[in-house]
Amino acid sequence: MQDDDKRLAATTAAAEIQPGMLVGLGTGSTAAFLIDHLARRIRDGLSVTAVATSDATERAARAAGIIVLPFDDIDRIDLAIDGVDEIDGSCRAIKGAGGAMLREKIVAASAGRMIAICDGSKSVASLGAVPVPVEVLPLARTFVADLLCRIGATPTLRQASGVGAYRTDQDNLVIDCKFPDLPDPAAIAAQLSAIPGILGHGLFLEEIDTAYIAHDGLVRRVDR
Ligand code: A5P
Repeated sequence: MQDDDKRLAATTAAAEIQPGMLVGLGTGSTAAFLIDHLARRIRDGLSVTAVATSDATERAARAAGIIVLPFDDIDRIDLAIDGVDEIDGSCRAIKGAGGAMLREKIVAASAGRMIAICDGSKSVASLGAVPVPVEVLPLARTFVADLLCRIGATPTLRQASGVGAYRTDQDNLVIDCKFPDLPDPAAIAAQLSAIPGILGHGLFLEEIDTAYIAHDGLVRRVDR
């Protein structure tokens, strides 16, 4: 049922992909439905190119027959579509449960438009039940963790099963930051951005223009 809703949100968003677009492909289980659906439209004749927000997405998209361009030479894309871990009624979100938030943020910021896709379990009245992940330069981990405590977070170094500390696609660490509550996400975002050694965080407060949230087979559209 949840997967059906993820697929529905993804295919609804995919209807906004027009011929010739350069599309940013998100990361995670909901974005996987987008990749499947887009690949089908490409097989049916749609001509688009894509950039990927993670190595896993790049592999999946290429395997499905989608042309994925390296982001290195690109300054602007047309449309980014990506999943979220939590989203509120103003299209403010927490992302990064999959560890891809740094590249997801860069791709989102380069996009003329960004659409969030999710099932109804991700829709919240206010952000903060899930931790805010931050990508951290490995040598700064202790310094950063101390500063995170000082701004009120309980930091946890993310682990990968059986292999020690989780590493991002950029070979950095992730610290998950649980805040007792998050009444002013913009203030926390500014504090996180100001900590040297933090390369990016999972608060997406300005990037998302529209969300498609599917619940029990019905899609709700939310605009910022
Ligand atoms: C990846 O790091 C995340 O930002 C995902 O986009 C987010 O966790 C949503 O993933 P699911 O679609 O798997 O819930």
